[in-house]
Amino acid sequence: MTDKIIIFDTTLRDGEQSPGASMTRDEKLRIARQLERLKVDVIEAGFAASSNGDFECVKAIAQAIKDSTVCSLARANDRDIARAAEALKGAQSARIHTFIATSALHMEKKLRMTPDEVYEQAKQSVRFARNLVADVEFSPEDGYRSDPDFLCRVLEAVIAEGATTINVPDTVGYAVPELYGNFIKSLRERIPNSDKAIWSVHCHNDLGMAVANSLAGVKIGGARQVECTINGLGERAGNCSLEEVVMAVKTRRDYFGLDLGIDTRHILAASRMVSQTTGFVVQPNKAVVGANAFAHASGIHQDGVLKARDTYEIMRAEDVGWSANKIVLGKLSGRNAFKQRLQELGVQLDSEAEINAAFARFKELADRKAEIFDEDILALVSDESVSADKEQFAFVSLAQHSETGERPHAAVVFTVAGKEVKSESDGNGPVDASLKAIEALVQSGAEMVLYSVNAISGSTESQGEVTVRLQNSGRVVNGTGSDPDIVVASAKAYLSALNKLQSKANRVAAQG
Ligand code: KIV
Ligand code: ZN
Repeated sequence: MTDKIIIFDTTLRDGEQSPGASMTRDEKLRIARQLERLKVDVIEAGFAASSNGDFECVKAIAQAIKDSTVCSLARANDRDIARAAEALKGAQSARIHTFIATSALHMEKKLRMTPDEVYEQAKQSVRFARNLVADVEFSPEDGYRSDPDFLCRVLEAVIAEGATTINVPDTVGYAVPELYGNFIKSLRERIPNSDKAIWSVHCHNDLGMAVANSLAGVKIGGARQVECTINGLGERAGNCSLEEVVMAVKTRRDYFGLDLGIDTRHILAASRMVSQTTGFVVQPNKAVVGANAFAHASGIHQDGVLKARDTYEIMRAEDVGWSANKIVLGKLSGRNAFKQRLQELGVQLDSEAEINAAFARFKELADRKAEIFDEDILALVSDESVSADKEQFAFVSLAQHSETGERPHAAVVFTVAGKEVKSESDGNGPVDASLKAIEALVQSGAEMVLYSVNAISGSTESQGEVTVRLQNSGRVVNGTGSDPDIVVASAKAYLSALNKLQSKANRVAAQG
């Protein structure tokens, strides 16, 4: 047993399974780079066999990332595993994560397989995967609700076949900390070759206990890998949140006695990047990364903190990336200052051309907005991927008229496959008119299931960040857009969602 916890981030796989959280290849690559900067040990980059798009994402990440292990999920069959291995070719360090359900419910109702068939398939898959890569993780899906005797039999067999990590998912978020911790402990005690593998926890948050369960798996169960996502992103109520689990282990080292390789100073940038990319807003009171996480509003607390910080602060805001000086740049800032700020925020743009394009947008924004905050810069670079030459639809300009007592009218100019078009419409309000104008021309037929506006940095001078969630033929996507003018931000968000709807190929869904 090591004294270090391996942080396995699955934002790009399990997190992305959250309806509307699908990301483009460039977005995933940017997040993967941020995870590498954070010094995450393992990045689960996707599920290569689920679609050609996912295959390309895993491949791109495997080639770009050098300091973290890159992993692909694969169902327990030869085709999925071979596809994962193919996508991971060229990775500095590669892992295949294969899974099959082991609970009676899943085996009977979902897989329609007998326990013996599942046992054989698990064994064969791990054997097959071990012939392709040295690092193989096995997960018994719905493991926590599986019969312990059967689970012991399967896990002993896959360890004998060479599985190097055994992950025990609480797929449906049913566990409670003490029971989950003891469950892992008892598996490790009962399985004769359990010491040949690293034990891992993977908890969903349906009852709000994913972080607590994961920590119990570590403390009571002896697990040494935690699977988690930035901001706890994930299907339904989400996954165990990386920032919370990491800061709990770090802040309570006296209790856990374990080390982590994570560079926590990059946590906030990672949180913002994921939130701005997916449109999943972080609640203000969210631990560690919420806007209020380090804000002391009550007089008594403020007084205490001014006298001695540790009266009310158990962590230092700077240690997770909050900076005291939030105003970073303005109209007179030059390209070098901008580039340096990007680096400090953990944003890596690939080429000088990309930096120049981002800088041009920064200048344009600085002309309209006196103070440019970190959040503005992050929004600006996440908009960067939506350029006319890369995307089917890109925003150009907008004019709208609204007056009390009159029906608002908007005219939107945007590009479709690089060609400029203009469309006009009335609407209930200027935003409605603008989106109707776009839809009148594109005719996507998509249903809008969510529209939200968020002030990026807290005042009316701030940029509005808009999220639009569209649903079409069973597919759900989120588009985001930001601009000091929320009507423009809305049009950008709508076009970004249309781009995602277009590019999102049908995928095979991973369970859990
Ligand atoms: O929750 C789950 O069971 C999963 C598996 C695929 C590991 O995500
Ligand atoms: Zn899961």
